[in-house]
Amino acid sequence: MADIGQKILKKTHIYLIIILVVASISTLLSTLIIYRNSLKASEESLKLQALGIAASLEPSLHDTHLEENIFRKIITEDSWEGIAFIALYDKNGLTLLHSNENLIGRRIASPEIRMSADEGTVTSGRMPLATGEEVFVLNYPIRSPDSLKVLRIALHTYPAQLITRSAKLQAVSISLTVLFLWIMGYFFIKAVRRSEQLASMMAERERLAVVGEMAAVLAHEIRNPLGSIKGFAQYLFEKGSEDKGDLGIIVDEAGRLERLTEDLLLYARPSEVRVEKFNLCDPVDEVVKLLAESDRAKQIPPNIKAAIPEDITMVSDREKLKQILSNLLQNATEAVNEQGHIKLGARRAGDNIIIIISDNGCGMDSETRSKAFNSFFTTKAKGTGLGLAIVDKLTRAMGGRIELESEPTKGTVVTMTLPLVLQTVNHE
Ligand SMILES: Nc1ncnc2c1ncn2[C@@H]1O[C@H](COP(=O)(O)OP(=O)(O)OP(=O)(O)O)[C@@H](O)[C@H]1O
Ligand SMILES: [Mg+2]
Repeated sequence: MADIGQKILKKTHIYLIIILVVASISTLLSTLIIYRNSLKASEESLKLQALGIAASLEPSLHDTHLEENIFRKIITEDSWEGIAFIALYDKNGLTLLHSNENLIGRRIASPEIRMSADEGTVTSGRMPLATGEEVFVLNYPIRSPDSLKVLRIALHTYPAQLITRSAKLQAVSISLTVLFLWIMGYFFIKAVRRSEQLASMMAERERLAVVGEMAAVLAHEIRNPLGSIKGFAQYLFEKGSEDKGDLGIIVDEAGRLERLTEDLLLYARPSEVRVEKFNLCDPVDEVVKLLAESDRAKQIPPNIKAAIPEDITMVSDREKLKQILSNLLQNATEAVNEQGHIKLGARRAGDNIIIIISDNGCGMDSETRSKAFNSFFTTKAKGTGLGLAIVDKLTRAMGGRIELESEPTKGTVVTMTLPLVLQTVNHE
């Protein structure tokens, strides 16, 4: 069920991204086309206006005797809107008439005028004025029986610029809308991802709860007969039966099974925290004492040096901390030989306590180190491989984290950071 849900959510991502990409491309393309068309339209409208002016002036310009400066009159009377200047040139660029009388008689070198005169075609373009303003110019050939002249109409571009300016504004607002859509899409995908993670966390919890229930049933069903088997074997062993060796094996193996069922229960059950106030020295002393009574400790007494400041008070889950310390010290004692020593230290760091357990035992190679926290990973003949998995689970339940440094033959350092005061939310 969770898998199907995740697949649907993954597809939602892809569909959303496809929709966003297609919508963005088509919107930006159409904006670009509209913008380019508006540029074209503004140029065309200038050309049409200039052509209209040129066509209306043409008949009066066939007359070679231009006594009156009609161009000046047009400008001063403002007959047509938007005219910057009007000029009439001969084919060599000599100014025959100009709305600015001072320029009459001047010769200009303009390839456009020569082209209009030579080919008899209308040409248009843009040119800067002395003021720096850019104007639209139309070169219009005027044929008369005895000569060829070119009429130049120059128009201000600001009316046409209004069209392009609004197109530009439209393009900017559309681009901003697309950007906004992407930002929304980003946050939407982030929210979907988060809900995906939550869904998989929930699924994992459900799975663990089922496994936990199974483990509890198994533990209950196995523990009682196992207890009887171990008890009877122990009884026969102590009574002095003939086959002591085999009975010893039954007792050992039953003990191992007991530990396995207990570890399984610890690992699989949801860890509810029970917060109480305690001095850190107390659980440490208890664990160290308990460890000294273990079977292995009887063979190789562990050399544990605990140096815990006496004034560290914690408000946390005492039993879980004991379990964590017990598993870590157990590993350390199993890693060292007779000459080995184990150090247990602690220091405050702000609102946290840092507990360090180091040993100079066999250490781990990089592969073992990377798998050490995996459940059921063990390099020991009689290990369950649940020790560090339980440590990791309980540390997280206590709102802390754990780090492991190790080098083969040199030893291992485990650094655990825990909040001094555990807030009662489930950290799993
Ligand atoms: N202090 C250590 N020194 C060297 N190796 C270690 C140490 N602690 C853990 N390991 C390695 O990590 C493995 C996993 O440890 P973990 O405590 O999870 O399981 P285990 O000790 O093998 O079995 P269990 O604790 O369930 O009896 C160990 O088998 C061992 O190889
Ligand atoms: Mg272990």
